[in-house]
Amino acid sequence: MNFIEIAKRRYSVRSYQEKEVEEEKLHKILEAAHVAPTAANLQPVRLIVVRKKEGLEKIGKGANLYGAPLAILVCADHSKAWVRPFDKKQTADIDASILTDHMMLQATELGLGSVWICYFKPDVIQKEFELPDNMEPVNILAVGYPAGEAADMERHSQTRIPVEELVSFEIF
Ligand SMILES: Cc1cc2nc3c(=O)[nH]c(=O)nc-3n(C[C@H](O)[C@H](O)[C@H](O)COP(=O)(O)O)c2cc1C
Repeated sequence: MNFIEIAKRRYSVRSYQEKEVEEEKLHKILEAAHVAPTAANLQPVRLIVVRKKEGLEKIGKGANLYGAPLAILVCADHSKAWVRPFDKKQTADIDASILTDHMMLQATELGLGSVWICYFKPDVIQKEFELPDNMEPVNILAVGYPAGEAADMERHSQTRIPVEELVSFEIF
């Protein structure tokens, strides 16, 4: 699969088989996160891989994993992230999301499904995983083998705004 095929094939999977994600595939997903860029290469992101029943149950107290056998908590360390000097905008969430996207697309290439989760109770996740105050859980990536039918990879003309609305070309 070339890149655009991977991007089009990916969809949010909200139903999973019980089958576990192979160690080798997990490592490839984590490698994709490892090589992702971050602002000023400050790398303020930490990942917590959750596969054991107890860990998945802990996440379940604050998020719906849709039955995925694997979840990666993507946490941002706000004390380590780059800050733009002009307006003090801090890029921790952006950095965390780039890693998340790399992992999500790598999972697709490996024949796995995933769903990016932001609808969770951060205080619950923070407490259950005993995260320090400076470490914010930004995203949860649920990963596993999809159950049910895959979304149509040509669906985007229906499910996205038109490219003309998305993009404007300024002529200087
Ligand atoms: C930042 C972000 C947060 C999201 N949070 C959730 C979530 O909490 N729960 C969920 O089921 N899907 C979540 N999604 C998935 C989106 O709803 C989904 O990507 C979007 O509807 C497009 O559908 P598709 O991924 O199948 O192409 C999230 C996606 C993004 C990018």
